[in-house]
Amino acid sequence: MNNRTRSRRLRDNEKIRNLVRETSVNTSSLIYPIFIQEGKNIKEEIPSMEGQYRYSLDQLPFRLEELAIKGVQNIMLFGIPDHKDEIGSGAFHEEGIIQKTLLQSKETHPELFYIADLCMCEYTSHGHCGILKNGKVDNDTTLEYLEKIAVSQAEAGADMIAPSDMMDFRIGRIRDELDKRGFQNLPIMAYSAKYASSFYDPFRAAADSAPACGNRKSYQMDFHNRKEAIKEILQDISEGADIIMVKPALSYLDIIREAANEIHVPLAAYSVSGEYAMIKGASGAGYIDEDRIVAETTISIFRAGADILLTYYAEKIIDLIHKGWI
Ligand code: PBG
Repeated sequence: MNNRTRSRRLRDNEKIRNLVRETSVNTSSLIYPIFIQEGKNIKEEIPSMEGQYRYSLDQLPFRLEELAIKGVQNIMLFGIPDHKDEIGSGAFHEEGIIQKTLLQSKETHPELFYIADLCMCEYTSHGHCGILKNGKVDNDTTLEYLEKIAVSQAEAGADMIAPSDMMDFRIGRIRDELDKRGFQNLPIMAYSAKYASSFYDPFRAAADSAPACGNRKSYQMDFHNRKEAIKEILQDISEGADIIMVKPALSYLDIIREAANEIHVPLAAYSVSGEYAMIKGASGAGYIDEDRIVAETTISIFRAGADILLTYYAEKIIDLIHKGWI
């Protein structure tokens, strides 16, 4: 027996454990998603996502101030409009909720980096991520609307556009349209491997965006598939995506690792509402320790190969970084 290679030597005390730590997290790699809704004086807790709120525009600056002081640097914006219709016109209206949010926030908190989620499901009366034709989401008609939304978000001042609709060819079409309008330098973060997942349910309750009929399986990916994720990612890169994303995160660590091995652009992972809600629920019941579980799950996502993490736990993760836990 070879007893010269004792693994426990490097685990003997905290100093040496810190010395050989392989994975760490930077505050600058975190993106915090936030929900903005029409109205006044609203700060309403989202029942399915304890500790997360919907804000009206007049309340938003106070929240952004808090986040900036905490050290959060990147914000993903989700809008909840007053009015929904068949074509999701609130998504590209000059005075749409996201457009107003961008204009205001670039003014009040220009130090933050604003990413606009580009999708139609919060804006359509039927709750699907595109335009319906004969009861199905029509890919090529939807592309025309995605172009419009991208341009309106760019004009309102978005720092990055993040298409989450999963239509084919959207990245190329949005890239061309942005370039044509003079936004050559506006980056695109593509939700490339976005699975049709039950982990989004708390978000859909928050954003009131559940499909009125059917589901999203004809455009979001089947969770039985792995190779297909790499195909989607490579296609988005070839169409001009600057950053690609895998979503959800925790049940898809294998996909994150495979993507990290395969590609040479920054890789983001979205730890979605259901992942947050499960930790909240179980820690609220006293079954697990919230801080320790957040530390461990966060590290697992970066260890799998993510460079960037979208998370409702951004503030807690910053606390954990300061405590030296991660
Ligand atoms: C919009 C969108 C969704 C999420 C992000 N962008 C919902 C969906 O696809 O149904 C989910 C985010 C989360 O669950 O935290 N299409």
